[in-house]
Amino acid sequence: MSALVSLLGLTRDFSTGSGFLKARRVMRAVDDVTLDIPRGSVTGVVGESGCGKSTLGRLVLRLISASSGSVTYDDTDLGTLSPGAMRKMRRNMQMVFQDPYSAIDPRYTIRRTLLEPYQVQRTPLPDAEARLQELMSMVGLNPDLAASYPHQLSGGQKQRVGIARALALNPSFLVLDEPTASLDVSIQAQIIALLEGLQRDLGLTYLFISHDLSLVRYFCDQVVVMYMGRVVEVLPKARDTPHHPYAQALTNSHFEPDPTRRKQVQILKGEIPSPFNLPPGCAFAARCPAATPLCHSDRPALESASSGHQIACHHPQG
Ligand SMILES: Nc1ncnc2c1ncn2[C@@H]1O[C@H](COP(=O)(O)OP(=O)(O)OP(=O)(O)O)[C@@H](O)[C@H]1O
Ligand code: SF4
Ligand SMILES: [Mg+2]
Repeated sequence: MSALVSLLGLTRDFSTGSGFLKARRVMRAVDDVTLDIPRGSVTGVVGESGCGKSTLGRLVLRLISASSGSVTYDDTDLGTLSPGAMRKMRRNMQMVFQDPYSAIDPRYTIRRTLLEPYQVQRTPLPDAEARLQELMSMVGLNPDLAASYPHQLSGGQKQRVGIARALALNPSFLVLDEPTASLDVSIQAQIIALLEGLQRDLGLTYLFISHDLSLVRYFCDQVVVMYMGRVVEVLPKARDTPHHPYAQALTNSHFEPDPTRRKQVQILKGEIPSPFNLPPGCAFAARCPAATPLCHSDRPALESASSGHQIACHHPQG
């Protein structure tokens, strides 16, 4: 499958501290990420809070600029585009946020929220009412809600509005940043089913960000595991067994309600290193049960283990 989006050495530093007495400190939120996102498929990005998932999603859409590296969309290097050309390109690539209020203005009706992207993009719309109805029914919203304000909707309905707005300009690529994390479990399942149906019916390509590996393995084709800004494992098929000790710990860190399948929940011990002062070797070494002196001195590179499977570990497990 050809790549719709390719990332090459994508890196983003943040500096904190300013003013007279505060020392300026730099941390690398996303570190040298190289990845192909295959066309018409779902790539999942998973990792603990703070590992750089949202920063990666924003970099991919150029909502923030990279410190170094590039993003190529359909053979176009986004870094070479003028602001006007990038604005046009944005029609193809949209984001759905965890908190729908990141994309919808509480002061706007649903109608205005869903039609606004056409104004922003200066795209004429011959029949606005027909498009509004089409968008609302695509995401399972009753068109009667068009005159409502966001506070009159449930959490699930608000996220449906966020998805409809992202789809308004017929994009090919969506970054979904924890789109169900703020919803009840039953509503989560409805939104995942909606996203699955839209991806299949419209042939969309997704970058799906989540901290929940079981959800990612259910929903995604390819799985990317991040730790402290770096990709540590890429599983070409979501059902493949992870071999990186951190990815294995994520797999074993959720509670299993079925007593026949219950197993020991693995709790990661050891301290997470400060992102401002990473150790010279593997960033996971202080928490890794398989760590050796080599792990503490040499940082493992991301290398191909087999077709499509990549891993950054001196001692892959299992
Ligand atoms: N604008 C910013 N300025 C400074 N630091 C930032 C900024 N945005 C993110 N960071 C830092 O970059 C790191 C990665 O943040 P990011 O939001 O990408 O993580 P995440 O994996 O999405 O976490 P979560 O699962 O909690 O959403 C964090 O340490 C965060 O504090
Ligand atoms: S490189 Fe070493 S410390 Fe890092 S994950 Fe692999 S075994 Fe563990
Ligand atoms: Mg995030």
